Amino acid sequence: MHAPMPSVVISRFVIHQSSSQWNHNRFADDVRLGLTAKPKSLPPKYFYDALGSQLFEAICLLPEYYLTRAETEIFERHAAEIVAQMPGSASIVELGSGSSIKTRLLIEAILARQTELYYQPIDISETILEQSASKLLGDYQNLHITAHISDYTNGLSSIARRDGERVLVLFLGSNIGNYTPDEARQLLGQIRGALRGGDGLLLGADLKKSSAIIEPAYNDALGVTAAFNLNLLLRINRELDADFDPARFEHRAIYQEKEGRVEIHLVSRATQSVRINKIGLQIEFDEGEIIHTENSYKYDLAQLYALAEERGFRPQRTWFDSEKRFSCNFWLAI
Ligand code: TRP
Repeated sequence: MHAPMPSVVISRFVIHQSSSQWNHNRFADDVRLGLTAKPKSLPPKYFYDALGSQLFEAICLLPEYYLTRAETEIFERHAAEIVAQMPGSASIVELGSGSSIKTRLLIEAILARQTELYYQPIDISETILEQSASKLLGDYQNLHITAHISDYTNGLSSIARRDGERVLVLFLGSNIGNYTPDEARQLLGQIRGALRGGDGLLLGADLKKSSAIIEPAYNDALGVTAAFNLNLLLRINRELDADFDPARFEHRAIYQEKEGRVEIHLVSRATQSVRINKIGLQIEFDEGEIIHTENSYKYDLAQLYALAEERGFRPQRTWFDSEKRFSCNFWLAI
């Protein structure tokens, strides 16, 4: 008989799913609410099912979508300086981590100065979280991951802190832009509430600029962004047994300079009615009628500083890409 192998297996990966998150009822309720409202709307968090998450990864590779490249450039140049804003041992929490590709640059910068790193990604997409975690764990032997499949509010309430460690929250990719100014204020308050003095927030925010640069980023020549937007209708078909015909809707993205936001719509190409069987709903569309699916707010530095100060942060440093299109802001929790 062989002696049992003396093995100690310590798992470096834990995944939590918040119980309130993935029931169909929530999706059904939100779809009913949004499509019976005037004007019609759908919440953007539902973009990110398995297909939507992959389409968003493709958007990040598009020539027109400068945001991801600009933020990556900032990290490539300044990662060491960014993480040096928080001296001592740190762990990372990331809201909307997605593929975590940009995060690697920060993970490497932290692992260059401490032997182990605890990383807590929070994302609504289970498939993306699992894929990215397994890649990260394979590439970094000293990385520990506790992933939360969750929206940000639930995820923030369940973050763990290790003794003597500071927490660096990452909120990248101008994710903040998908909230109205009031919601952004509220979310930043929630983030601050989950932190202690001395912790930090790294906030990636896209900057106000000419619509000639912004609009193509949300309406690319290849049509990937259109597909991403239209996938929301296909998701309703798949999950709620509806009969949306994506060919009868059009993707539209317009930068409203006064409001400082890109408004993203699906526009009905005809008078039509759509049945959503699982919720027993028939929806009528006029020709040209819109479903509002997302806003993407653009910021200027004065707005960002005011937000930081209002929510209990000190804005310490801002880095830009070489074309000054995008900003990466380190805020210290005070
Ligand atoms: N956070 C991204 C942004 O505002 C999301 C996004 C990119 C998006 N392209 C989109 C959302 C098109 C809806 C439609 O930049």
